[in-house]
Amino acid sequence: MTTTTTAGTFRAYSRHIALGDTVIAYSSPKTITYITVTADGEFCNSYGGFPHSSMIGKEWGSKMPSKTGKGFIYLLYPTPELWTLSLPHRTQILYQPDISFVTALLDLRPGVKMIEAGTGSGSFSHSIARTIAPTGHLYTFEFSRDRYEKANLEFSEHGLGDIITIQHRDVCVDGFDMSDMVDAIFLDLPAPWDALGAAKRAFKRKKVGRICCFSPCMEQVLKTCTALKELGFVEIQMYEVLLRPYDVRKVQKRSFPKLGDAKKGNAGAEKKRKAAEAVSDSDVPGGEKTSGEDHTTTLHVPLNEELITSKPQAEVRGHTSYLTFATLLPQELPVRR
Ligand SMILES: C[S@@+](CC[C@H](N)C(=O)[O-])C[C@H]1O[C@@H](n2cnc3c(N)ncnc32)[C@H](O)[C@@H]1O
Repeated sequence: MTTTTTAGTFRAYSRHIALGDTVIAYSSPKTITYITVTADGEFCNSYGGFPHSSMIGKEWGSKMPSKTGKGFIYLLYPTPELWTLSLPHRTQILYQPDISFVTALLDLRPGVKMIEAGTGSGSFSHSIARTIAPTGHLYTFEFSRDRYEKANLEFSEHGLGDIITIQHRDVCVDGFDMSDMVDAIFLDLPAPWDALGAAKRAFKRKKVGRICCFSPCMEQVLKTCTALKELGFVEIQMYEVLLRPYDVRKVQKRSFPKLGDAKKGNAGAEKKRKAAEAVSDSDVPGGEKTSGEDHTTTLHVPLNEELITSKPQAEVRGHTSYLTFATLLPQELPVRR
């Protein structure tokens, strides 16, 4: 089956993979990459080649073996969460813990009009586009020409062109050129305080506006808070989002001699170890005596029993910056009828 998508798979859902789709190739939690399906392309990794033509028509989520049969990948649907884990990094990016928190505290939902600067690698933009669609709009600004062009192309390839407008602009110098237009603003810039005056003008005048500035250093947070206060923003609050995921895995449970046995000497401990093994071999659940030996319940634990354990991950993609939120109250009162 060979079909082409026109809207891109980030917005137009389908059951099967088609020519031109973005596919997330999942090999392992640490090896996630993306593929744009072409007629004669081939994705290669250390297990061999995966021809694009064999992906076309497969159901999303399928497991695909390599040509050599030595390995496989999963062909996953391009959600914003998976895109964040696989996108080409042109800058530091936002990860889901921060994106989710910003989404909640800026009250983002379908229909919201908002500003983002800078666009960077578009990680935040992809998630926000899904949240505010189909009636909302994201105006995003980027002053690096190269990043602007790449993000612009990605948004249109991913079918997000009607939700996201990207402009090539230095917002700290030229502002946003928008007034009375948006509900929310997100600034991931080295000097957000220089853009706050223009941000204030862009907010809808008759509605409550919410802003978030994302800064890696406490000195930047202090400058941002000072500028927000001077401009009349209220409810200024700073947060740091920390994530602690756990890996769950099965381990083999082992029985050990009791502490007292070690003191009595090796002969006693050895006798009890043999008795315990006899118990485990016959798979008798712990507790009862099975011979004339004086072994205790601790020695009746069957060897090789599996235990489920959990352990925090050593490396976590969580905090990258501090999040400063503030509210702008309506600058004009709505007219009463
Ligand atoms: C850390 S990145 C943003 C990453 C983005 N939040 C993401 O999740 O992919 C910051 C971006 O801001 C851009 N930038 C810095 N100063 C700017 C300015 N004054 N106007 C517009 N963009 C600016 C940089 O070029 C950079 O691409």
